[in-house]
Amino acid sequence: MNRPIVELVGSGRAVPEKVLTNADLERMVDTSDQWIRDRTGIRERRIASDDETLARMAQCACTQVLEDAQVDVLEIDSIIFGTASPDRLLPSQACDLQAALGADNAAAFDVTAACSGFLYGLAVAEGLVAAGTATNVLVVGGDRLSRITDYTDRATCILFGDGVGATLVRPARNGDRGILSTYIKTDGRLGELLWRPGGGAIHPPSEEMLADHSYFLRMAGREVFKHAVRSMADACDHALIQAGLTTNDVDVLIPHQANLRIIESLTKHAGIPLEKTYINIDRYGNTSAASIPIALDECVREGRIKPGSNILMVAFGGGLTWAATMVRW
Ligand code: ACO
Repeated sequence: MNRPIVELVGSGRAVPEKVLTNADLERMVDTSDQWIRDRTGIRERRIASDDETLARMAQCACTQVLEDAQVDVLEIDSIIFGTASPDRLLPSQACDLQAALGADNAAAFDVTAACSGFLYGLAVAEGLVAAGTATNVLVVGGDRLSRITDYTDRATCILFGDGVGATLVRPARNGDRGILSTYIKTDGRLGELLWRPGGGAIHPPSEEMLADHSYFLRMAGREVFKHAVRSMADACDHALIQAGLTTNDVDVLIPHQANLRIIESLTKHAGIPLEKTYINIDRYGNTSAASIPIALDECVREGRIKPGSNILMVAFGGGLTWAATMVRW
């Protein structure tokens, strides 16, 4: 096994106050609590108010990370923000976070890889540290998909929630603890299985866009489901092989929380018992790039992850993108 180049230190999360339950959704679209629970495992999700911007939620999550890591904000030299639903398109979400934190010595930029954004961010952070470009990198995954969700489309609006999670990446100091392997993949030919047709430079904002809802997320759910299971299982295999480990070595599997049935199929395909798998989709729905770092923070604070635990994190999202990262905490 290779010696890790970087380690993860500290964790943090922030979710909005407002809870949107399945019963609430029953009053908005033609659906039922039973259907949503049976088909997705979701009971409720959090929806950000106007004041709960991504920048504010991320500031809260990063403050917890800095406290955990005992790092001063001025020691942060890079901020990487994985998101597909930034507060504004320009400047980037990471720039707004840098200003909010007062991280005056940090370079800041976004990574757009939808639900895989956090693991892609970790991969970039590892590269920056390996190259000697950065020493203390805040990696954030956050989305406010409620702002780009069509609440007249029952096939998507039941799925998504808002939130942010974060960690710190720095040069490994603790022997064999840190990132043991990273695997990232993309298939851009399948981009239109999960996309936002309008709002970019090809179809800039227009009256027509408001009328046809092309500003919102669209998803071919059944197709995405199949790709998600296959790709995440494959990513787990690659990450384990690269780390020189087997499924028996995994203490905690943290999968992207898109659908409970996807998670159950993944554990079967990957050969990792469900008991080792962390699941919180019932409480938050799919929070996109935030789902893995929120789960990571909950595992750490609940004592499910301890120093030395082997954690396999695996993501899948629009792009299509997918990724797996093996970490010894
Ligand atoms: N309530 C009741 N019925 C519904 C609802 C609903 N909310 N939504 C769809 N249905 C109906 C459909 O209209 C369809 O009816 P029909 O048979 O009469 O045509 C039926 O239920 C079955 O629809 P499917 O789309 O086949 O349902 P499925 O079991 O596939 O579940 C779901 C849909 C939950 C979207 C699932 O496909 C899924 O989770 N897909 C993957 C999502 C994902 O992984 N996303 C990746 C990341 S997201 C990101 O990157 C931002």
